[in-house]
Amino acid sequence: MLPVTFNASRLNDLCRIAKLEFFCYNVGMRIGNLNVKGNILCAPMAGISTPAYRLFAHRFGAAIVYSEMVSSHGLAYKSKKTNDLLDFLEIERPLGIQLFGADPEVMYRAVQITAQWKPDIIDLNFGCPVKKVVKKNGGAAVLKDLGLTRALVEAAVAAVDIPITVKLRSGWDETAKVFAEAGKICEEAGAKAITLHARTRARQFSGRACWADIKQLKEIVSVPVVGNGDVTCGEDAARMFSETGCDAVMIGRAAMGYPWIFREINHYLDTGANLPPPTMDERTDLILEHARMLIDSFGESRAMFKMRHHIAWYAKGLPGVARIRKRAYKMTTYADLEEILRDYRQTNFEENSDGRPQ
Ligand SMILES: Cc1cc2nc3c(=O)[nH]c(=O)nc-3n(C[C@H](O)[C@H](O)[C@H](O)COP(=O)(O)O)c2cc1C
Repeated sequence: MLPVTFNASRLNDLCRIAKLEFFCYNVGMRIGNLNVKGNILCAPMAGISTPAYRLFAHRFGAAIVYSEMVSSHGLAYKSKKTNDLLDFLEIERPLGIQLFGADPEVMYRAVQITAQWKPDIIDLNFGCPVKKVVKKNGGAAVLKDLGLTRALVEAAVAAVDIPITVKLRSGWDETAKVFAEAGKICEEAGAKAITLHARTRARQFSGRACWADIKQLKEIVSVPVVGNGDVTCGEDAARMFSETGCDAVMIGRAAMGYPWIFREINHYLDTGANLPPPTMDERTDLILEHARMLIDSFGESRAMFKMRHHIAWYAKGLPGVARIRKRAYKMTTYADLEEILRDYRQTNFEENSDGRPQ
């Protein structure tokens, strides 16, 4: 086992220069004073990155998990609902809390409040494309004013000792791909890592992410660069590392309802082989555990309501999805969920002797 402070990307850079076909991707990295034991990260996703989601991602090997984005304004002006988004379990560490906003003074205050929760990282969102956020100049709109980009990072860095990182999109639109300049500015302002979702705001989630942007950013800044966009399996992750030279890869949509993705990608990076998918027992146990966690936090009725979406994600790609979704949208109790899963298993699955779907 290599020491966690070992800098894989530097070794990889040397190998690339020497034209050696040897790359090591999964050896950890350093973000400010934080040693990270792995290079596959779980993306922040609004409405999705709940404690249960993050806990499972962590359990299956995500090296860092993030809260969904939290409004700096909501924090600074003491919204209880916003404060609740900062709660996390010790076991989720290392964890980043992500903030968005467009006012450096408010951001300074919000970062100080966030620090009371003692996250390992505070990440600033400069990529959210949602109208409600960008019309107040937050999220990806910050990239339209690089002076504001700098001021927000400087304010956050001045507020606390916790490493401040940023998550960018490539730019506002194809005519304003400012990621390189913005990345350099964030680094100068004190950001300790930069994640790039390699699409412009105008492209939302359409087309392929432009990984060449990640490569270019990596050549420009010296803080760790986290590549993000369209990685759905071990082969994709290995390709993103080798094509861009990035220090870590962040997984978003592919982990929704499928936390096993982190185990699979890590295994692929370590061995070059693909793991079999989880068994039905593993899937069922995890879904029920998720439901129990939600019940603890919200009570049975609200938990089951929330669980309806999660079931749809957990069932994605399995045979008979439509039926399970339809039934899940009517469930109101934990017992309903158990019954749905039992019936589903009986009617839809012939299994291999090891319990894996055929
Ligand atoms: C439903 C949803 C919610 C998201 N919420 C956030 C968020 O709160 N903060 C953020 O930085 N990115 C957010 N994103 C973007 C993801 O973090 C990630 O950058 C994007 O999905 C691309 O990665 P992927 O191709 O692996 O999904 C969200 C994406 C989705 C689909």
